Amino acid sequence: MDFSIKSQASKNKITSLKTACLVVGVFENKKLSDAAKEVNLHGAIDAAIKSGDITGKPGSALLLRDLKGVEATRVLLVGLGEENVSEKAITSAAQAAARHLNGLGASDVTLSLPVAKTRDLSWGIRQIVLAFNEAIFRTDAYKSKKDSIAANVKKVHILVSEKEATAAKAALTHSIALVNGMELTKQLGNMPANFCTPSHLAATAKKIASEFKMGIEVLERKQIQALKMNSFLSVSAGTDEPPKFIVLKHMGGKAKDAPVVLVGKGITFDSGGISLKPGAGMDEMKYDMGGAGSVLGTMRAIGEMKLKLNVIAIVPTCENMPSGSATRPGDIVTSMSGQTIEVLNTDAEGRLILCDALTYAERFKPAVVIDVATLTGAIITSLGHHTTGLFTRHDEAHDKLADELLAAGKEANDVAWRLPIGELYNEQLKSNFADIANIGGPAAGSITAACFLERFTKKYTWAHLDIAGTSWKSGAAKGATGRPVPMLTSFLVNRAK
Ligand code: BES
Ligand code: MN
Ligand code: ZN
Repeated sequence: MDFSIKSQASKNKITSLKTACLVVGVFENKKLSDAAKEVNLHGAIDAAIKSGDITGKPGSALLLRDLKGVEATRVLLVGLGEENVSEKAITSAAQAAARHLNGLGASDVTLSLPVAKTRDLSWGIRQIVLAFNEAIFRTDAYKSKKDSIAANVKKVHILVSEKEATAAKAALTHSIALVNGMELTKQLGNMPANFCTPSHLAATAKKIASEFKMGIEVLERKQIQALKMNSFLSVSAGTDEPPKFIVLKHMGGKAKDAPVVLVGKGITFDSGGISLKPGAGMDEMKYDMGGAGSVLGTMRAIGEMKLKLNVIAIVPTCENMPSGSATRPGDIVTSMSGQTIEVLNTDAEGRLILCDALTYAERFKPAVVIDVATLTGAIITSLGHHTTGLFTRHDEAHDKLADELLAAGKEANDVAWRLPIGELYNEQLKSNFADIANIGGPAAGSITAACFLERFTKKYTWAHLDIAGTSWKSGAAKGATGRPVPMLTSFLVNRAK
């Protein structure tokens, strides 16, 4: 799909715009948006509202054809709710337009929507790009017969005034980079584990590196062994699929600037290992590389944006499978940091691969490290599928980082909520036989998981995002969401300013 900004000199009329479909908004109180007023030459829109054909409620839409005095072949009215245009109204209107237009014959469409009261034009442009991309996203890559919903829209023009054009174009470039990153994340998350292997993630990272001129290193088993990442390797022990340790570097900032390091959990399938998971829904554990997928998606986004910031992605990736060579409950492993870990449950494997990656991150003398992981089922119990769990230490530097991430999430419609960590929770990780146990009992599962990770991050400023709930949708519309690419991308864009 091809997006562009069309700037309109104020002397030119919308009515003389040649397009297969013009999209304008109407309000619930029967009033028209400025664009709709212009098109309402002979009262056709008033008549449509009066007859009750469109309510103006957010999400409602009505198609009109051949309006007298209007060059556009079609006019699509979309509901905007109250005149005090809300964020929700803009997202609903953009989604309604995208959904509606996909079933029509129109191939080039032009949108002229107002700006939400609490946001700017750039935000609105992003919502349009997101909505149109979402509407054409398909999960039929492995189906012999492709889903037959028409996706006829080829060109989407967003109408802005001349003085807004420069800012709008910059916003559009960013939005397109963002959706391309999210799309990669979604594809990787949906891809079955027999295709999305650690080797596939490594190949994907290499592709990003060559396309966007980044540095890339993929460490193989021998090198991982040499680094003494025995905790990571213990998770991989039960499978024939070789583990990979991916390091992808976007050095868009000054050479001496400390990098932001993103660490993504890349379990390409989590069977639970010897602590085998129950069968129902186990297929969904193919998305246990959602952290890795979102880190790679974010790198793709900032690569396309040519962001002026140093960002390094680290992805430890392997499968967690049971077999005669698998790690057993009770086994003790020595992590790269030297801390010994008693593996009381082989299903708490995410922290076992992340801890070694977090130790490896030290060598980059990072400005901050953010790890992203589908770490615990417990975070779904706490926050559901709407909100990502955010964890950091409780001091000034970390409070600041937390606020930065929370604000980025709000800005990007990809929200997080901070939960506590600390000494009392850490006590739950005591082991009789090793320095630390890999589980902390049934209470506060997401918090004790974060506390486990925290022990490997003492040398830098760190935050942890638990995305088990937000990176995936269950049920009928099952699939990866592309989160938290929007939050991470906004965070990095703000840091580059
Ligand atoms: N990958 C899972 C967490 C998960 C669960 C993600 C559901 C998405 C949906 C993780 O490796 C895991 O199994 N965690 C265990 C931890 C427990 C053994 C302490 C869990 O959440 O049950
Ligand atoms: Mn697990
Ligand atoms: Zn897992």
